[in-house]
Amino acid sequence: MLQIAPSILSADFAHLAQDIEKVAGAADLLHLDIMDGRFVPNITMGPMVVEAVRKATDLPLDVHMMIVEPDRYVSEFRKAGADMISVHVEACPHLERTVGLIHEVGALAGVAINPATPVEVLVDILPELDYVLVMSVNPGFGGQAFWPRALDKLRRVVSLRGDRARPLIEVDGGINAETAPQAREAGAEILVAGSYVFGATDPVERIKILRRD
Ligand code: DX5
Ligand code: ZN
Repeated sequence: MLQIAPSILSADFAHLAQDIEKVAGAADLLHLDIMDGRFVPNITMGPMVVEAVRKATDLPLDVHMMIVEPDRYVSEFRKAGADMISVHVEACPHLERTVGLIHEVGALAGVAINPATPVEVLVDILPELDYVLVMSVNPGFGGQAFWPRALDKLRRVVSLRGDRARPLIEVDGGINAETAPQAREAGAEILVAGSYVFGATDPVERIKILRRD
């Protein structure tokens, strides 16, 4: 079943609770982008903001960690309210250990892959993952254009997964009315959308468009 995860990166941070309220009845998950100014050029939010968001909604929180040494913060983000935690394969020299840590603290574990990282790097860790996050932009900023070759990567994750039900396949970056059907067709089951949802006067309408068959 398709899940829509609005990314609050494009929400109004001065009125975060109100923006979250707008999508509460229409979204399946809320996507939170954690950036440290090292793994990616931008700096966004830490566990304190995640904790504040946790108090503002019952939606499951999908925390996307774009930081170096994510192991150091997994437990803090879980305590702050993260239900799903993804780390970047490019930031994890001991990925199997990191995934184990995420499970140990009781969250679902995802691995995110940058555009230039081949999905095949996940072949041996795949059975341990709850979801794979295919980046369809270079991470760091909202509002970038969808990278079309992500579609082929999505198809390759589907084929690596074979007949198993997990990992679920999430896509993040440049998702809108035009790219969502393409990503779904290629196998994406969780669509992250930031600017397309929160950049609109009616975010619920935008979520409905993403769900449209
Ligand atoms: C980019 C983030 C995305 C971002 C997507 O580094 O991981 O989650 O919010 O924004 P849009 O949907 O505007 O591309
Ligand atoms: Zn993200």
